Amino acid sequence: MKTEYFKITDENISSPETGKFLSHCRSIIESGGLVAFPTETVYGLGANALDGSSVAKIFEAKGRPADNPLIVHIAKLEDAESVSSMTEKERERFYKLAGAYWPGPLTMIVTKSSVVPDEVTCGLNTVGIRFPSNVIAQKFIEAAGKPIAAPSANTSGKPSPTLAEHVIEDMDGKIDAVIDGGPCKVGVESTVIDLTGEVPCILRPGGVTLEMVRKVLPDVQQLSYKEKTEDKPKSPGLKYKHYAPEAKVIILEGERSLVSRRIAWALDNAASRGVKAAAMVTEELKVFLPGRENVVSLGKEGDGEEQAAKLFALLREFDDEGVKEVYAAAVSEDGVGYAVMNRLYRAAGCLMVPCKKIVFVCTGNTCRSFMAEYIFKGKQNKMMEEGRIEACAWEVSSAGIYAHPGHLPSENGVDVLHDVYGIDGSGHRSRQIEYDEMEKADIVLTMTKEHKAILLSALPQFADKIFTLAEKAGGEDVQDPYLGSYKTYLDSAIQIEEMIDQILASTL
Ligand code: TXA
Ligand code: MG
Repeated sequence: MKTEYFKITDENISSPETGKFLSHCRSIIESGGLVAFPTETVYGLGANALDGSSVAKIFEAKGRPADNPLIVHIAKLEDAESVSSMTEKERERFYKLAGAYWPGPLTMIVTKSSVVPDEVTCGLNTVGIRFPSNVIAQKFIEAAGKPIAAPSANTSGKPSPTLAEHVIEDMDGKIDAVIDGGPCKVGVESTVIDLTGEVPCILRPGGVTLEMVRKVLPDVQQLSYKEKTEDKPKSPGLKYKHYAPEAKVIILEGERSLVSRRIAWALDNAASRGVKAAAMVTEELKVFLPGRENVVSLGKEGDGEEQAAKLFALLREFDDEGVKEVYAAAVSEDGVGYAVMNRLYRAAGCLMVPCKKIVFVCTGNTCRSFMAEYIFKGKQNKMMEEGRIEACAWEVSSAGIYAHPGHLPSENGVDVLHDVYGIDGSGHRSRQIEYDEMEKADIVLTMTKEHKAILLSALPQFADKIFTLAEKAGGEDVQDPYLGSYKTYLDSAIQIEEMIDQILASTL
């Protein structure tokens, strides 16, 4: 099939050519075809909502799972009544919300009318209705003369299209026509709110935020964006991995400077593996990653609108550039930021990890804590190589309670690291534990109970993060190999390694 393309701009929106193309779209829709059109959220892939076999073609073109219902788009408020059969309670909520936020990026789920075929709702007795504010969308729906069933116009599982180019990338040759209306303003799909339940519930966050809905419906609830895949989620769309680029995406949470250091580390690590990686961070965090061309800005911190408008296009760009790993910094969940985090979370296949700072402590930082640091780093590198990129979230260091700064590590320790773990620890120099390091650490792991007791007596305010390795991992205090033989160091190293394995297994 040849996909027709027509661009509508402010200049030609009222021109005879545009009028002609829109009547052509009407005939496409009437004869059961598919037309992609711009909305303020993302591009939609439209078909006649009242005809089951037209709607079936949408599922085919997108490769969409057969149990994920479509939204019905209208261009006049009155048309909502013809596709629904609302209860009194639903109707009251519906008109309050419509009065406040329609036309706009809000989809309301209400009891459906029998004119809506099962193909649209996937057999549910409810229907999602949306009245988009985009003028081109309205003109198209009006021209079609029918309610338009439309999901986002992407191949199922890919990021939603926010440019006509994205639609063409996914749908060229599979649909009848694309109307190009330029970039979508909101950039993430509409807020989906279920009005049929005991209380109204936001199933999918979007441009109309929880706070906005609350002004009109104070008892509204919102599903957590971390809502896990279940067998029967309230909104069938919730159970599918979504918005996912080809690249593996991870979200890193935490304090700005720690996150930026972990991202820098991860990018360097990827480069050393020969893997093309990129980072997606706020404008403010980008400042902490100077001179790196593979760091892109998602927008200003706290500006959910800007971030939403950019997100999907950036995810698609990563694919175009062959990026294999994307390190994204979590953004504020305020306002539209909540919808941004929701989409990012799904693009990451739920891989979101807090960045943590871990400090190993012993007496002199030349034997045990030194070996622990390097064994940990070795494990971290290995996990990265295996594609377990969540390992990047740990920042690890070591220090001694009575260390003489700048001492060389013990020779046997260096040899054991080299022979058994293939790690070069010869560059290490001993360090005295510092207050700042203790304060910034998320977890401080000592080799023995005695070390812990000393730290606790000096710094009781950090009691909640000081543990012995054995406490966290099970096992005994790490034996002191100081001045011992190669074998003594080997035994300590193995003991440390086993406990680190336990810790990694339980936290990552
Ligand atoms: O902004 C938007 O909503 C865009 C534009 C094109 O309007 N459309 C869109 O459609 O995002 P789609 O199909 O990609 O997402 C529709 C979401 C899915 O998560 C689906 O499961 C949910 O709405 N949904 C639709 N009808 C529903 C119903 N009756 N009950 C529960 N969830 C429903
Ligand atoms: Mg979609």
